[in-house]
Amino acid sequence: MSEHRWDKSGFATRAIHAGQEPDPLTGAVVPPVYQVSTFAQDGVGGLRGGYEYSRSGNPTRHALEECLASLEGGSRALAFASGLAAEDTLLRALTQPGAHAVIGNDAYGGTYRLFSRVAEPWGLLHTPVDLTDLDAVRRAVEPGRTRIIWTETPTNPLLTVVDIAALAQIAHEAGALLVVDNTFASPYLQQPLALGADIVVHSTTKYLGGHSDVVGGALVVADPEVGEQLAYHQNAMGSVPGPWDSWLVLRGIKTLGVRMDRHSANARAIVDVLADHPRVVQVLYPGLPGHRGYEIAARQMRDFGGMVSFRVAGGVEEAVAVCGRTEVFTLGESLGGVESLIEHPGRMTHASAAGSALEVPDDLIRLSVGIEDADDLVADIVQALQ
Ligand SMILES: Cc1ncc(COP(=O)(O)O)c(C=O)c1O
Repeated sequence: MSEHRWDKSGFATRAIHAGQEPDPLTGAVVPPVYQVSTFAQDGVGGLRGGYEYSRSGNPTRHALEECLASLEGGSRALAFASGLAAEDTLLRALTQPGAHAVIGNDAYGGTYRLFSRVAEPWGLLHTPVDLTDLDAVRRAVEPGRTRIIWTETPTNPLLTVVDIAALAQIAHEAGALLVVDNTFASPYLQQPLALGADIVVHSTTKYLGGHSDVVGGALVVADPEVGEQLAYHQNAMGSVPGPWDSWLVLRGIKTLGVRMDRHSANARAIVDVLADHPRVVQVLYPGLPGHRGYEIAARQMRDFGGMVSFRVAGGVEEAVAVCGRTEVFTLGESLGGVESLIEHPGRMTHASAAGSALEVPDDLIRLSVGIEDADDLVADIVQALQ
């Protein structure tokens, strides 16, 4: 298989080449957009290259899946129509009614909504836990019943960092799988499978796509058998991305490393200013030596990424007002694009967690720091805080 050619190459080389050999027919250096639903057969069952119908498999999607598997160091990757479609497929493929999951108590609001409003009525119970408290995790796990420990790290939006290797050990001792949502870090900054995780989840909408022009998701697995089960459900449930969306994510991935370096450097410049600002009560960034998860982040991440959250003096009114005053930062949901975004999690991305154990502080602002000039970004935040 072509990806093996790149197994020993560095991250940037794999991002540009894995799964992306020049097209055998024309030599096109970028995988074409195979915008088709079905493929001609040479006699019944005579498939060319294994393709029969684009829900089951499509060459552009396949190129993306091979590249993602290579970047995360997995045996297999599967692409989906959105991050939540990937999550839903995972839950229904690998658990059953009556099973139990342990999830972080500051997961992305949409993930929490999936667990509490969709999976729970179907029969999958869950316990939200502070995953930085390993004793609490051990207490929450029910051996024989808990199928999954689900974590993000860093988390959305509180930038909490959890110890992937320690959670993997707890999960495996209980016969459960550790699932890590690696959306905030991206495979460039963090490789959960190498630390013992079983499955990596991505909203490829974010850093992997990188340009705020596509919605997508992915699962990457260590164990080929789990990969087979998920692939069966990917086809049987059908929430696949189209060829054009697959191509956009693959194109974004080529520059992932250089973008993540710049996102991280720009975030650091902003954090330096926020940390000393009189109108800022608290800065949440894993690269701050005072951050609760700093040591773990320094150990398990290459750099600290482009997401920054902070709390302002003046409560919810001031937080909402600051979000409305920026000029370079665009007020909007989502994250991970080249352009900087600002949002109020309590009223926007995490509104669905209101009143639950996952409710976020209402004076919290979240920044997705883009790759514009750092000076312009810093000046914009400083004027918005006046
Ligand atoms: C950490 C995280 N995981 C998953 C998702 C869901 O992904 P999508 O919006 O592509 O369905 C999001 C979306 O914001 C996210 O931030």
